[in-house]
Amino acid sequence: MALLEVENLEIAVSTQRNLLPVVQGVSFTVDENETLGIVGESGCGKSLTSLAIMGLLGTSPVRITGGSIHFDGMNLLALSERERRAIMGNRMAMIFQEPMTSLNPVYRIGDQIVENLRQHQNLSHAAARDRSVELLSLVRIPDPSERIDSFPHQMSGGQRQRVMIAMALSCDPKLLIADEPTTALDVTVQKEVLDLMADLQSRMGTAIVLISHDLGVIAETCDKVAVMYRGKIAEAASTADLFAELLHPYTRGLLNSIPVVDRDVEWLEAIPGRVPTLEETLTGCAFQPRCELATELCACEAPQTTQFKPGHSVQCHFAGQDRS
Ligand SMILES: Nc1ncnc2c1ncn2[C@@H]1O[C@H](COP(=O)(O)OP(=O)(O)OP(=O)(O)O)[C@@H](O)[C@H]1O
Ligand SMILES: [Mg+2]
Repeated sequence: MALLEVENLEIAVSTQRNLLPVVQGVSFTVDENETLGIVGESGCGKSLTSLAIMGLLGTSPVRITGGSIHFDGMNLLALSERERRAIMGNRMAMIFQEPMTSLNPVYRIGDQIVENLRQHQNLSHAAARDRSVELLSLVRIPDPSERIDSFPHQMSGGQRQRVMIAMALSCDPKLLIADEPTTALDVTVQKEVLDLMADLQSRMGTAIVLISHDLGVIAETCDKVAVMYRGKIAEAASTADLFAELLHPYTRGLLNSIPVVDRDVEWLEAIPGRVPTLEETLTGCAFQPRCELATELCACEAPQTTQFKPGHSVQCHFAGQDRS
């Protein structure tokens, strides 16, 4: 059994009038020591999927309407609030899209790590403080025994992201979910943070779910990839298989839209059009209005997930075909 098993996950947003599906039939697994990349444009449901795994959808209008999530053999959707809290931040941890929203600006960073450690482990204040200095040094914060008394605003964006990683790793989680951990950072710092995560993984055997809109980042860091489009998994495979044969026209579009540094253009060949909104009812394939391969079939009938090859699945009527 895999460490994390998400099966047929369904999430919906309730509005005054109806329930709009936002994540549909999403399934994937992550093993110990493995990194899964989830990639897709803004609004495809990446963050909601990770919040659902962490049990953080809370009382928002967004809720899980179907499927199952198993972690280390436990059915996460059947846990009581108390059982769930014992696991989150301890055996499962998350790095959020924007570190300033998860670090409390009025507390020194050391106090926040100490608090997190003491909540989950039976440590004295002094021992938790020593461990916090160790963690800051592990994530390569210079002069950790002094920086531990800094406030979040006294640190750079890259350093705050490292502090978030230190906090997430404070209890040796088995699974780390990193939601766009490097988007707000410049390219050199981005590489350092990604290298740091890979290094920590090789030392601790942590399973990682890395969320990004950048297929280039995913290609460099992940063992396998799930490409999400409008709440569904358009294509999934090991990184090697995916790049050996990009089956979904959306995946090919994403690859061609990798942001280019040091050039006048910000995006190379961005995919024309946009992700349909939740309110738009779709009868066929959600990518069809933007797809150069689309036919009448695509407009009428949503493609099912098919196993193109063992371990390489795709949702497209014309998977692997090329118009050119
Ligand atoms: N609390 C909420 N209430 C209503 N709609 C929401 C809520 N949270 C998310 N959504 C909608 O659900 C969809 C998926 O959102 P999600 O945040 O998962 O996207 P994402 O793939 O993480 O995008 P990004 O790359 O911008 O972070 C979006 O259309 C978003 O507008
Ligand atoms: Mg997001």
